[in-house]
Amino acid sequence: MEDTTRVCVTGGSGYIGSWIVKRLLERGYTVHATVRNSGDESKVGFLKGFPNAQRGLVLFEADLYNPLEFEKAIRGCRYVFHVATPLRHDPNSSKFRDTTEAAVAGVKSIVESCIRSGTVRRLIYTATVMAASPRKDDTECFAEAMDESCWTPLNLSAPYSNEQFTEEYVKSKTQSERELLRYNGAIEVVSIALGLVGGSTIRSSLPDSLRVLIAQATNDRARYRMLRILEEAKCPWCTLKTRARHTCSAYRRSIPSAAGSYALVTM
Ligand SMILES: NC(=O)c1ccc[n+]([C@@H]2O[C@H](COP(=O)([O-])OP(=O)(O)OC[C@H]3O[C@@H](n4cnc5c(N)ncnc54)[C@H](OP(=O)(O)O)[C@@H]3O)[C@@H](O)[C@H]2O)c1
Repeated sequence: MEDTTRVCVTGGSGYIGSWIVKRLLERGYTVHATVRNSGDESKVGFLKGFPNAQRGLVLFEADLYNPLEFEKAIRGCRYVFHVATPLRHDPNSSKFRDTTEAAVAGVKSIVESCIRSGTVRRLIYTATVMAASPRKDDTECFAEAMDESCWTPLNLSAPYSNEQFTEEYVKSKTQSERELLRYNGAIEVVSIALGLVGGSTIRSSLPDSLRVLIAQATNDRARYRMLRILEEAKCPWCTLKTRARHTCSAYRRSIPSAAGSYALVTM
């Protein structure tokens, strides 16, 4: 009999990933969570303390710089949440030149593992609104409004072009999401574009997005510049509660198909 209660979450120890793992365990699912280093207690110890973790949590080691490693975690699952993303480039990589190449190879390999598994019904991707920020009349200014059909152009100079991290992040998320949505039809892909995520964390260290949100108060100049760029790009914010609830409903909906791209903001 098909196991409909087995779910894979990539990046299970991250800010958003850990909340998804916790919620799924609370609802009785068996969770295949991928982490980069299962021996790093500072990153994975708290996952083992979640309710039902002893029965339902299975940790797998997988790195996007070796994307085939995700295959074993995906095997036998009904749903896959692809949450992990390389935020910083691994300079020792001989395979990829930057995070964009690694992220795109990662989504390709993960979606192909989902198809090969024969069990995965839906792949849910955590995208960013920053990949959907169109420019006004091909200028450097961001347009006043965006929707799920918009894409951030990669060939225009932008207000963030002096910010290497932001530029690389936006590029890698835009290219990855575009690549992933190409597979809709072969498998159901749901992409949820998030604004800047705030709200409480269950990890011991403060997540990057929270550091950005409070950058003015902490006098963190680099992250404050990032906050200003997000403001320029009309990037909304959303709370983790809203986000976890909507991301979970992306697989729980009883509608026959939820394929496509959805923007998620807090109103
Ligand atoms: N937070 C936001 O405001 C926001 C907004 C829009 C979209 N998103 C998207 O939501 C997702 C999660 O973001 P987050 O805020 O939860 O970030 P996070 O806390 O930094 O989590 C990122 C996760 O990706 C994993 N990861 C990083 N490099 C990896 C690699 N090379 N191979 C495998 N895993 C790797 C990290 O593992 P380690 O624990 O080992 O580092 C971590 O679990 C990302 O896709 C992000 O683009 C976030």
